Amino acid sequence: MTIGTDDTRTDAVRHHDTTVRGFASDNYAGIHPEVLAAIALANGGHQVAYGEDDYTAHLQQVFRRHFGDRAEAYPVFNGTGANVVALQSLLPRWGAVVAAESAHINVDECGAPEKIAGIKILTVPTPDGKLTPELIDQQAWGWDDEHRAQPLAVSLTQSTELGTVYTVDEVKAICDHAHEHGMLVHMDGSRLANAAATLGVPFRDFTTDAGVDVLSYGGTKNGLMLGEVVVVLNPERVRNLKFLRKMSMQLASKMRFVSVQFEALLAGDLYLRNAGHANAMAKRLEQAVTGIDGVTVVRPVQANAVFAILPREVSERLQKRYRFYFWNEHTGEVRWMASFDTSEADIDAFAAAIAEEMGRV
Ligand SMILES: Cc1ncc(COP(=O)(O)O)c(C=O)c1O
Repeated sequence: MTIGTDDTRTDAVRHHDTTVRGFASDNYAGIHPEVLAAIALANGGHQVAYGEDDYTAHLQQVFRRHFGDRAEAYPVFNGTGANVVALQSLLPRWGAVVAAESAHINVDECGAPEKIAGIKILTVPTPDGKLTPELIDQQAWGWDDEHRAQPLAVSLTQSTELGTVYTVDEVKAICDHAHEHGMLVHMDGSRLANAAATLGVPFRDFTTDAGVDVLSYGGTKNGLMLGEVVVVLNPERVRNLKFLRKMSMQLASKMRFVSVQFEALLAGDLYLRNAGHANAMAKRLEQAVTGIDGVTVVRPVQANAVFAILPREVSERLQKRYRFYFWNEHTGEVRWMASFDTSEADIDAFAAAIAEEMGRV
């Protein structure tokens, strides 16, 4: 039996309507066709397991091109795993990480950094999901006090959970401040490509060159089937990734299929095309709903998310037609996300549905 790209027979059955798209999350989308083609390309024959394959070897060059000559890429399965592995690489057993209250590591990882890695998260409320040196100082104190978990790292998310984007200077200011206090910096880049598309500068300007020490680089929300990469940017300070990855159950045996997806994304400009498109669709939605009476966009739209407040009963009726989440049950704020495959027609139809449901209030 020869297994190759032409072998398309399957007993699997399609179980969903491929024309339906919603606004719940960018990970509701499928796989970008160029990524799917790359997976097929890597299929067939045998390759050494656990990352000793030719695809993962080549991926190192791809990441060095984007993040500098010292970058080391460690593919993992998912974003929570990337964060857990990356944070462990920065902190001793008594270490704590300072993060925004809204950070994914704080609210959406079921306590994995605490439970799996034993890391305390020291949180700070922020108006827009972004840390600043001043906000970090609310938690960056008590070094040498054995009663306090030691704040030895800072974690920031780019783009943030609230759809905002740090400027290059803002990231630099945080890294300088953290380093002056002996803290290392982790960036949760689950949506790093969306930030790159917004800022219009190379990744390294707001990661490596700004002083970030370790990065969780996101692929899933940018068009992959699955996969993220822990990228060591400062190998002098961040070590032992390979052991931490395996211990954290994030070492894929068939790693070539994770790695080749990132090659599809990053060897050319697919990451930017996908992210730029998703961002543009979020902007289109913002513009479309801004004219609708009773709908208020409540946060700056700087990446691929739109946050809005509208009457709860309208949101609930809309949810019967389109998938999306309440972001804050208390205020009724909702989050609408665009992805690489959101079309202009999807946005226009959704905006029309919002207007129609508002008309029934
Ligand atoms: C900011 C951020 N970080 C990390 C993740 C991790 O994702 P997962 O563990 O679902 O792959 C997500 C997913 O929604 C996210 O939004």
